[in-house]
Order: sequence, then structure tokens, then C-alpha cells
Amino acid sequence: MVDNPTQIESVLNNLVYALFGQSGLQHAAPREIGNLTVFDHPETVDQIVKSPAVFRKNFSLISALGLSRFNTNDEDWAARRAITQDRYLAAAKPSSERAISTVYNKQLDDCDASMPGIQQALFAASLTIFYGALGLVPDIAPTAALLDRVRDVLRRLQYYSWVPPTTLERNSAIHDARAVIADFGSQLMAHPRSAAEMHRFSDKARGIEGFSPIEEFVMNLFAGVETTVATVSWVMDRLGANQQVQERIQSEIDSNNNQTPYADCMINETMRYLPPIPFLVREVGADTLLDGKSLREGQLILLSIVGVHQHPAFWSDPRTFDASRGEFMEDSFDRRAFIPFLTGPRMCGGARLGRLEVKEAVRALVRRFSFARADNVIRFDYGLALRPAGGSSLGVSRR
Ligand code: HEM
Repeated sequence: MVDNPTQIESVLNNLVYALFGQSGLQHAAPREIGNLTVFDHPETVDQIVKSPAVFRKNFSLISALGLSRFNTNDEDWAARRAITQDRYLAAAKPSSERAISTVYNKQLDDCDASMPGIQQALFAASLTIFYGALGLVPDIAPTAALLDRVRDVLRRLQYYSWVPPTTLERNSAIHDARAVIADFGSQLMAHPRSAAEMHRFSDKARGIEGFSPIEEFVMNLFAGVETTVATVSWVMDRLGANQQVQERIQSEIDSNNNQTPYADCMINETMRYLPPIPFLVREVGADTLLDGKSLREGQLILLSIVGVHQHPAFWSDPRTFDASRGEFMEDSFDRRAFIPFLTGPRMCGGARLGRLEVKEAVRALVRRFSFARADNVIRFDYGLALRPAGGSSLGVSRR
């Protein structure tokens, strides 16, 4: 029955490997994954994401973890967005740069010089910044443990949207999703400040039927922390695999100049090559014709961010990781072909904050550590966000 984690992981990873396999090629045949049509032309994807009334969010089973601005549409989404959006923007003001840098520096100063130690410190820093954006302070260890449970449940729910579950499996996943939301709720409501923030959420949400501030909070938290840590993890992985790139970035960052064009370029290239959210699913809201394909109302389509980021008409040598990629160094890339945070009305709510965090985290890491990989094989682990596989050969030492 349920929950064979190895099988779940390998099915989801294979799905993403298939996306990588199909990307970057000149004359790729029309693509399908499972029974979903894949769109990866930057212009078409741009058109899709800018038409949210026709191409809608659909999370069917994943909604077992609750409703939030992530998986709702129309007025419901707009009202939910208003609860958090100004907080994320305020937290990403240029004046916050120093505070964000301090959080990462402190966590990395105190951490064990091992990959698990660094991972823990990155989660702690990102949690601190997410909670801080809402005026809260996290209880780090228990919150990180809850986040692990959210990841596990989301991975299972996502797997079941590809491989239909038995009734038992479905019920077990829904039960676990409800349990983790309930435990998050107990934790948040036990602290007066976070309880007051949940009341603020509910006050702002008046009129939204069945609104749960905890569900809203948990999906926002996961969206913010998991993707940020995944991005920084890929940067470490790519530094470890490219020693000359690492040395160049170390000397750029060591020079204490606020301008770090090469590091910025390398971060962009990492997000192009290994987008933390490699694909999105949308539901067609009305019969429509797109790129010569007729789409029926209710049909699900897949938008391949990997494919957009490797489209051969938009990128030179798209399947090569190039830390000093010309399109980034010269700022000549087409904005529609680089969408790690998406674009359009449903783009990432924390894009500015996420970018700032990644930049400060990379600076703090590069100042303290050197990374080295025994090989250059990319191995990943996908569960809503794409992260380097746990067992990959990345080693770390203090500088
Ligand atoms: C490097 C880090 C990040 C990346 C790559 C990233 C990427 C994305 C992407 C691709 C989406 C669109 C998902 C979809 O339409 O299905 C998204 C949505 C979202 N992200 Fe991020 N994200 C990052 C960091 C953050 C942070 C730091 C926060 C909050 C503090 C955040 C909050 C959100 C929210 C709330 C949404 C839903 C937006 C909406 O539909 O209203 N993200 N993110």
C-alpha cells in the first residue's frame, strides 16, 4: 500500500527527468507527459500565464492541505493575496538587505561545517525571514520539523495526482494533511503574537467562505522557504562542480564591493538551468485554440519552466551550464524566456524577497565555505520544489 517513499520519489523524479530530456532540442516533436500536453515556447507560456481567467489554478488533491492564495482563483485569490502581499513587499525593501544579511551570517557562523549543518542553517534563516515579514519569530526546530511533514504530504499528494491512489491511500494522505495543518495550528495559536496574526488574517479574509488562516499561512510558508533553500542549495552544488567559477566568485565577494555581477550572473544561470519550480499545471477554463492545438474546458496542461529556460530559439547552447552566460552578463535575454518566479498576475508573491535572500545567502556562504563535488552528475529530488538529491557528492570545508 501507501507511502512507498522510494517509489513516490522515483516516479516524480522521472517526470522531471523527462522534462529535462525533452528540453533544449531543435526539432522536438509535440510533447506529452502522462496525458498532459506540454507547453514550453516562451511566447505561448507568457500568453497562458497572463490569461488567468482562461488558464486556471488547479490543485485537486493537493488542496487536501487546504486553500490559500496559491491554489484559488478570481476574487477569492485577490482577497487572499491582499492578506500577505504588502508584508512581502515591505520585507524586500532595499533597506532590509542588511537585516537579511545579518540573519544568514549569524546562522552560518553558528552552524556545523557539514552539508546537513548548512542545510539546517539555511532553513533556520529562511524561516526567520518569512516569519519576520509577518512580524513573528519562529520556534525554529519544531517549525522545521512541521515543514518536513508538509513536504512529505505534498509529495504524496502530488504523486497521487499522477498515479491515482486507492481509497485507502487517498484517505491516509488526506488524514496526514489534516493532521499537519492541525499541529501547525496548535503551534501558532499557542503564541499570543502568532495567534494575533492569525486573527488579522481572518479579519482581512471576511467574506471568503471557509477561510482558514492556518491553511493560508502554511502554504505561504512552504512556498517561501522551500524554494529559497532549494535555490541556494543548487548554487552550492554548481559551485562545487565548477572550481574555477567558485574561485572567481570568492574573489569577487571577498573584495567587499557591493556590485557582484559575476555572482549575480551565476545565480541567474543556476535558476535558468535548475528552476526550483520546474513546471506548473493549469486547468483550461474554456474551450480554446492555442498554438494550433484545441484545448477543451477542464483539460489540464503542463507548462515546462525547464523547457522555457532551455528554448533553443531564445538561448545559445541552452543545455550547457555557463556561469558567465552572455545573455545574463549583457542583460540581453528575453524576459519571457527566464521565468523562475513566473510572470503575470500569478507570479511569485515573494519574488523580490526571494531574490534578496538568495543573494545574501550566497554571499554569506561563499565568505565562509568552499564546496567540492566528486563528480558533475546532476541528481535531484523533486517534491513541488526541485532540490539537489540528499545523497549527492557535495563536500564542504570552512575557508
Ligand atoms: C528563490 C525563491 C523562490 C522561487 C524560485 C519562487 C517561485 C515561485 C513560482 C514559480 C510561483 C508560481 C507558482 C504557480 O503559479 O503555480 C510562486 C508563487 C508564489 N510564491 Fe514564490 N518563489 C520563491 C520565493 C518565495 C518567497 C520568499 C515567498 C514569500 C515570502 C514566496 C511566496 C509565493 C506565493 C505566496 C506564491 C503564490 C502567488 C499567487 O498566486 O498569489 N515565494 N513562487
